[in-house]
Amino acid sequence: MTSEKEQILTGHKIAAASRKDAHIDLALDPATKSAGNNGFDRLRFEHCALPEIALSAIDLSVEFLGKPLAAPMMIGAMTGGTMRAEAINRALAEVAQDHKIAFAVGSQRAALELGKTASDLRIIAPDIPIIGNLGGIQLAQSGGIDLAKAAIDDLQADAIAIHLNPLQEAVQPEGEHDWRGVRDAISALVKADMAPVIVKEVGAGISASLASDLFACGVAAVDVAGFGGTNWARIEAARRMMILRLCTISGLGHPHP
Ligand SMILES: Cc1cc2nc3c(=O)[nH]c(=O)nc-3n(C[C@H](O)[C@H](O)[C@H](O)COP(=O)(O)O)c2cc1C
Repeated sequence: MTSEKEQILTGHKIAAASRKDAHIDLALDPATKSAGNNGFDRLRFEHCALPEIALSAIDLSVEFLGKPLAAPMMIGAMTGGTMRAEAINRALAEVAQDHKIAFAVGSQRAALELGKTASDLRIIAPDIPIIGNLGGIQLAQSGGIDLAKAAIDDLQADAIAIHLNPLQEAVQPEGEHDWRGVRDAISALVKADMAPVIVKEVGAGISASLASDLFACGVAAVDVAGFGGTNWARIEAARRMMILRLCTISGLGHPHP
């Protein structure tokens, strides 16, 4: 017999898995793209009609996290944990390995809580930098540093990315809203020296002042994930409407006051 607490925990884990699948569907919907723009469309490169260089002499290769890359490119953190997400990640790992670019997985928390491993990604992509991923709030919770170690070990990750998503959590029906202690947890993770620590946003950007603060904490890199592409506030708002509709149809009433 499972206790009520275990049942609630299992329900929470199943809900997290179905949330990830809903995120994939909603991210594919053009209506959830950011309405604003990040300013990149105002930039124009001046065309040089007389380059005086052989195209073959242009070398885009770089070293990142101690490994050679064919170009300074990385597949950004997307998803993990569900069967569908695992298939997406295997395909992305294969592409990254073939093209010798870096690959970041999405949050590993749900998978680790369900006792799943993503170690096959390292087998698919043995030569490229693979970046693990956890949420800042989860890192700050009890056992957060151990969870980060498990995330790094599972992938033999070359770095761990901590995502900051306060806007998304604020709109998410079951979001977590207590961001106290996240900065200290990031500092503690840096001091634990398990792998380089990257801090990233999920689509709403990181300001210059926060970036300097993070570098002062010893963070190795910052991924600003600037506003203009995927909009998590829109995605979570759309998911909230989906949940409300389901509750109305099934006569369960409003799930959150
Ligand atoms: C389906 C999907 C799932 C994502 N899951 C994660 C995640 O688990 N962890 C994370 O740090 N970022 C996650 N992201 C955010 C991306 O890494 C990226 O920061 C964000 O999409 C902003 O970039 P874009 O505007 O080019 O989409 C996810 C993005 C998508 C589209």
